[in-house]
Amino acid sequence: MRHHGRSQGGTQKSLVISGKPCDKCFFCLRFWENISKLRVWINFKGVYKQMSKVLITSALPYINGVPHLGHMVGCLLPSDVYARYMRMMGNEVLYICGNDEHGTASEVGALKENMPVQEYCDKYHARHAKTYADFNLSFDYFGRSSSEQNKEMTYHIFEQLDKNGFIAEKTMKQVFSVDDNMFLADRYITGTCPHCGYEKARGDQCENCTKVLEPTDLINPRSTVSGSTNLEVRETKHLFLNLPKIEEKLVEWLKTKEAFWPDVAYSIAKKWVKEGLQPRCITRDLKWGFPVNKAGFENKVFYVWFDAPIGYIGITKQWADEKPTERDWKEWWLDAKDVRYVEFMGKDNVPYHSITFPATLLGTGENWTKVDYLKGFSYLTFEGGKFSKSEHRGVFAEDAVAEFPADYWRYWLMANAPEASDASFTFESFVGTINKDLNGVLGNFAQRVMKMTASKLGSFVPEGGELLAEDEEMIATVQARVNDYFKYMDALEFRKAVAELRAIWVEGNNYITKTEPWQVIKEDEKRAATILRLCLNLVRIYAILSAPLLPQTAEKMLAKFGLKPENMPTLKNFNVAEQITALKSGTPFEAGEALFERITPEKTAELQEKYGGK
Ligand code: 2FM
Ligand code: ZN
Repeated sequence: MRHHGRSQGGTQKSLVISGKPCDKCFFCLRFWENISKLRVWINFKGVYKQMSKVLITSALPYINGVPHLGHMVGCLLPSDVYARYMRMMGNEVLYICGNDEHGTASEVGALKENMPVQEYCDKYHARHAKTYADFNLSFDYFGRSSSEQNKEMTYHIFEQLDKNGFIAEKTMKQVFSVDDNMFLADRYITGTCPHCGYEKARGDQCENCTKVLEPTDLINPRSTVSGSTNLEVRETKHLFLNLPKIEEKLVEWLKTKEAFWPDVAYSIAKKWVKEGLQPRCITRDLKWGFPVNKAGFENKVFYVWFDAPIGYIGITKQWADEKPTERDWKEWWLDAKDVRYVEFMGKDNVPYHSITFPATLLGTGENWTKVDYLKGFSYLTFEGGKFSKSEHRGVFAEDAVAEFPADYWRYWLMANAPEASDASFTFESFVGTINKDLNGVLGNFAQRVMKMTASKLGSFVPEGGELLAEDEEMIATVQARVNDYFKYMDALEFRKAVAELRAIWVEGNNYITKTEPWQVIKEDEKRAATILRLCLNLVRIYAILSAPLLPQTAEKMLAKFGLKPENMPTLKNFNVAEQITALKSGTPFEAGEALFERITPEKTAELQEKYGGK
């Protein structure tokens, strides 16, 4: 192997040949550093897939409350589309998610519903799991941050951090509610804002004037949990993750990510470091959580944000424990080889995933898998405002799938994903998109082609003849668009990917409009058969390409030819010229029902009324 050597004097460069890279000279180190970066870069751009194992996680949704469309598009759905795509590309994918269960919010939620926290979490976990299954999210495992496996991981990671000197103790003052018999997190104290007089200001921030507050600033403070004003400030001792002490390691690691992370994520992380990392409190005076495994802290639990990201690992162990002879969580997380780890989250979660969690893992001194690519999303607004369960504003995921098949929502949400900036859901846009793109372009093409062939030539793929220039041109155009579609999917640019997929569907309509098989058949049946054979094959190709985004529709489309998704070819090296002849002449098909239903103005008005908020 060629590499730089260094002369005795250390100033002259020369090329020498050796079996392995030299581990001392500056030039070699730089060279190998750059080469390894380049390999990942090439992999990421989808040109050269070196790594075949892809670990994908979606931020763990809080157990309290039910997810709305904003939650769906903020990490869950894009991670599913990506996981499906990566599998179809022939990679070994592990896609993990679960509920984030600990913390005050769950305790308060359970109190409100008058049930033990465990029972409350069981109830909502089942509800979350069902909703995501209804949305066809293809998790390999949907687990729980409260699992025994996660407790084991959390304890192990904490012990390592403590052993390595990254845990600090500090006594602090906190508000204690005597009647509730609990310390109150800042945001669970309500009172009057000293700056603007707003009467429902929270202890951490006034929603009205946005000023940051200390709970002790509030006038007439009261517990948000019970309304009690019987509050005291008490001293309490807590454990902190000493981020300043890990900073050097963290910065070194972060630098290796600059070339690969999206700019937004990297700049958020850089800003945090620049503003100075502070020790972060990782324990709480609560009952619901993992009891701290350190003498003197037995009555405290770990902070929800300490054990939640560790949950990605704990949940992987839940998955592995189901089939211990076949699955090994370490293959993905500890001293793992060739794993590319991609995380999905809302942008407010970026600091935890780019700073706190990696620092936690680095501080253990062990070789944990850390994020290679971090995809953050902005927010989705609903008809210009916020989603609110109590005000009945917005579509919640379980209602969504009761109104329309999941693919309708999957399509609109991904076509309008809040990637670069916030996006706004309106029924007008939703209905317009479904009617135009799904019903008008994809559905119409499939139905038209099948019905036309059935009525003119019979319900089977016709034989046809040689391809003409206009056919070759269509094939080349579709191939070029397919390449772009993959390029955007590889780059996790979902809006662009969906636009490209739609353009691929449009090509089918353009082709049939241009070739006019219904006219041609009057003069030349063989030529018409060729055109329709190509169109029928396009329907199959569209099913395959659309499967990551529209899994149910893809299945329906394939079923019309008696085909199943699991028997379809991988997307890797997808060759349109080859695939366009995959359906052999004589293959029977059944046009059956339309793929999508047109949404009427009456239904639109009904939806606006029903979900618009009261
Ligand atoms: O913001 C949220 O919804 C958090 N429950 C996300 C946690 S992500 C991970 F760290 F678990
Ligand atoms: Zn205020």
